[in-house]
Formats: sequence, C-alpha cells, structure tokens
Amino acid sequence: MGLLRLGCLLLLGVVATSAFGEKKDEEDKEPFECPEPSGNFADPATCRKFYQCVDGHPYESRCPAGLYFDDINKLCTFKTDARCGPIATTPGPVTDPPIDLAVKCESNNCGLPHCYCSKDGTLIPGRLDPQKTPQMIIMTFDGAVNINNIDNYDRLFLANRTNPNGCPIRGTFFISHEYADYQMIQRLHHEGHEIAVDTISTAKGLELESYEKWAQEMIGMKEILGKFSNITGEDIIGMRAPYLKPGRNAQYEVLQDFGFVWDSSVGVPPIKIPVWPYTLDYSIPHDCKAGTCPTRSFPGVWELPLNAHFVESFEGGHCPYMDQCVLFNHDPDQVLEWLMEDFKRHYDQNRAPYMMPFHTTWFQQSELEKGLLKFVDWARQQKDVYFVTATQALLWITEPKSVDTLSTFEGWDCKKRTVPPQPCNLPNKCPLVFKQPNAPSQTRYMTTCFDCPRQYPWTGDFDGDSQPENEIYTKQNRKK
Ligand SMILES: *[C@@H]1O[C@H](CO)[C@@H](O)[C@H](O)[C@H]1NC(C)=O
Ligand SMILES: *[C@@H]1O[C@H](CO)[C@@H](O)[C@H](O)[C@H]1NC(C)=O
Repeated sequence: MGLLRLGCLLLLGVVATSAFGEKKDEEDKEPFECPEPSGNFADPATCRKFYQCVDGHPYESRCPAGLYFDDINKLCTFKTDARCGPIATTPGPVTDPPIDLAVKCESNNCGLPHCYCSKDGTLIPGRLDPQKTPQMIIMTFDGAVNINNIDNYDRLFLANRTNPNGCPIRGTFFISHEYADYQMIQRLHHEGHEIAVDTISTAKGLELESYEKWAQEMIGMKEILGKFSNITGEDIIGMRAPYLKPGRNAQYEVLQDFGFVWDSSVGVPPIKIPVWPYTLDYSIPHDCKAGTCPTRSFPGVWELPLNAHFVESFEGGHCPYMDQCVLFNHDPDQVLEWLMEDFKRHYDQNRAPYMMPFHTTWFQQSELEKGLLKFVDWARQQKDVYFVTATQALLWITEPKSVDTLSTFEGWDCKKRTVPPQPCNLPNKCPLVFKQPNAPSQTRYMTTCFDCPRQYPWTGDFDGDSQPENEIYTKQNRKK
C-alpha cells in the first residue's frame, strides 16, 4: 500500500509539471493557421504537439506521453524517429527537439515528496539530525536468480534476522533474463523482497542505444516477470543499467514514460561524505563515473546512486559493487572489519543509505559470505539500523521521520503489506530453443509456474509466442 502511495505521489508530481508547462504555452500562443484545409501539421513551437486541420479549422492535439510528432510521416512516434517540424514540403534539414539541460540544484524550488536535491548531494532529507536519522542498509543483487545462488540468499535472509521493528530484513533483486528461474523469483517476491529490472540481455554497449532499444530491454524484462512470475507492474518500479552504464537520456525517458519511479545505475567516485538519493529534476551533484549519465532534467525520477566502497588505507581498492573490491585474501573477521570501516563513513557522518550491491560472485567465496553474515548480525545490534529495499528507502526519504517513531512506520511494516500469492510447488521446466544472431541454437531450461512459451523469450518477443512485439509500445503509449 505504501508502495502504491509512492507511485501516486510521483505521478501527481509529473501531472503537476506538465499542467504548468501547458499553461505557459497557452499564454504566448499565436492562433495556428492551417497551411492546407485538411491534414496533420506540426506545431511550430513544440514537437510534442500538432494540429489536425478539418475544413481549414485547426484542432490542437498532443502526442501521447513520451512520443513526438514526426512531420514527414505525420504521426506520433519515438523521439529518435521523429523529425520535428514544421518541415518545408521539400524536406529541409532535420532539427533536434529542444534540449533542456539540467541546471544546478535550486533547493527553494525543490520540495519533498516530489523533488529532492542538495548542493553537493550530502544533505539529510528533512534536515534531520544524524542521530534522529535511521541508518538504512540496502542490499541489492544483480542478475539471474537460480539454483546456483538461491541457497546463499536464503542463508542471508533467515527469518530470525530482523529489523528493530520486528520484520525480517529484505533486499532488492535486479533481474536479468538468461538462466533466471521464475518460480524462485516469484517466491522472493512473495517473501517481501523487491523485484526490479536489469535488462533482458545485459548486452554490452547499451549505453549508446536508442529509446526503442532500452524500451525493449527494460519493459520487455518487466513483461517477462509479469507473465512468468506473476508480478504485477505496480510492484516493479525500479531499474539498474547493466555494468552501471546509464543509457544517457534515452534510458531515463523510457523510465519516465513507462511509469518507473527510480533508477540505481549511477556510480559515485570515492568521496569523503557519501551522497543521499536525489531526484533528477536538477543536474547530478557529483562526478558521473560512467560518463553516460543523463544530462536533461527528469522531474520526479529518483536516482539511488552507488557510493564507492573503500577504507581509508585504500586496502582492497574502491568499488561500486562489493565483490569488485579485492578482499579475497581476507578471512571472515577481516572482511567484517573492512565492511565496518566502510559502513561507518555513512553511520558516523550523514547516514546516507549504505547500499551493498552484490553480484552472485561474492557468495562463491565462503570467507566473503561468512564475513557478510557477521557484518549483518553486527549491524543488526545497532538500534537505529534498518535493512530495507530500495523502494522502502524512498518511502522514508519522501516522508522523513525520526528514528524513534519507526516501529510504527507503515511503509516498513511487513504486517501491513499485501502479500502476493505463493508460487506453485511443482513448476514447469520448459526446454526452449534459444537462437541469437550469428550463434548456433542452444537449449535453455526456463522454470516457471505458468505455461511454457513456444520459444525462449527475448527482446522483440518477450512472451515467447514467436510473434514479434516491436510495435506494442507505440500502441500502448497511444492508448494512454
Ligand atoms: C537463527 O536461527 C538459526 C537456526 O534456525 C540459528 O542457527 C541462528 O543462530 C539464528 N540467528 C540469529 C541471528 O538469531
Ligand atoms: C497472480 O497474482 C494475482 C495478484 O497478485 C492473483 O490474484 C492471482 O491469483 C495470481 N495468479 C496465479 C495464477 O497465481
């Protein structure tokens, strides 16, 4: 329920801004004159709108959210395909839609719950005292969940590892498709973990790809989780780009157009005071490590950045993912010590959420796994530490409240949660042909409680019914 509320709040934020934008348009608008008595014509002021002329009378029309008017084909389409008008009858030079580059944080114009920023990103939301601020720990896991790693996750999330409010600790899983076991994912969701989206293919080089390609990868992954793990769209509102390579503006346009609430793909270089999550209304308050961060403003879209992990001596190096620091020669107690020092940079300073991003490789080294379990049980002894999902963290950030009131905070109360149904006991193990371009066919075994698809789901055919779905987003968007 808390989750839905967050979605609504953010949706309201979007509606409010666009209503404001429209008002401004109305004020300085000159009456449109139809160049011809009938047909569709580009709005000279914006690529988002066009006019339908009937008997010489113009009717103003707006493209559905996220689409732009293409003045050559005279229809609304994806931004990368839209040639903005008005274009002379002999096609003139192609002009890009206006670029609004994000400006630096203006905290006076940026208020919770829709907007949050601070000059260097380190300010506590609600200007709370650090002592009154809960130290949130967000454990995240990237990639497929399957028989090779589910036991590790079950050992970590034992029912008796609880938060101060008595609820079991929970994490966020960024799912990619290949080798994923959709029955196990359905169980994690049932147990209260957050399921978020990586991409279908985790292909390299996505950061340079188009809006349409990102839509295929992200929305396709969300559709697969819906169909084969029965996870409703409202529950999947977060995303992470593979290899922490954000897809420049294209990825964030998809995020915004398709109802995602947050992203967690932006790495922060090692700095003294860690950064809190922020909205992308304003420019990013730290160096962009990947070099492919969004440059435009995306009002209301939250970024949960990945602060670098390191200790003062830089022993082990620094890393966004825990398993990328070099700790393999440490015994469990040394791992614990290293994690404690890294954690205290958050806990003893501004209590920015301590995100612990893992690949499954961390759990393949028993010293690292044991060290982590020691750390989790140590952190749980601290009264003001909560292990939460990314969305639970945002529920607090959008409505900051003192740590001594949190035992009754609804957003973190597992008893107030709508529990999704348990998965089946005997799932189908579907043997499916998987054929990628320029590669021999292979067989993949896909496990799900639902009917086997005809072929292995992939970008362009995410329900695996052998019917390409490239068109579906355009249609869906138009219905909005
Ligand atoms: C949780 O329960 C297991 C047995 O099921 C026990 O071995 C372990 O010590 C307990 N852990 C905590 C943190 O209470
Ligand atoms: C799928 O989930 C919905 C709501 O979470 C539930 O009502 C429905 O029964 C589930 N379907 C199956 C087949 O489990």
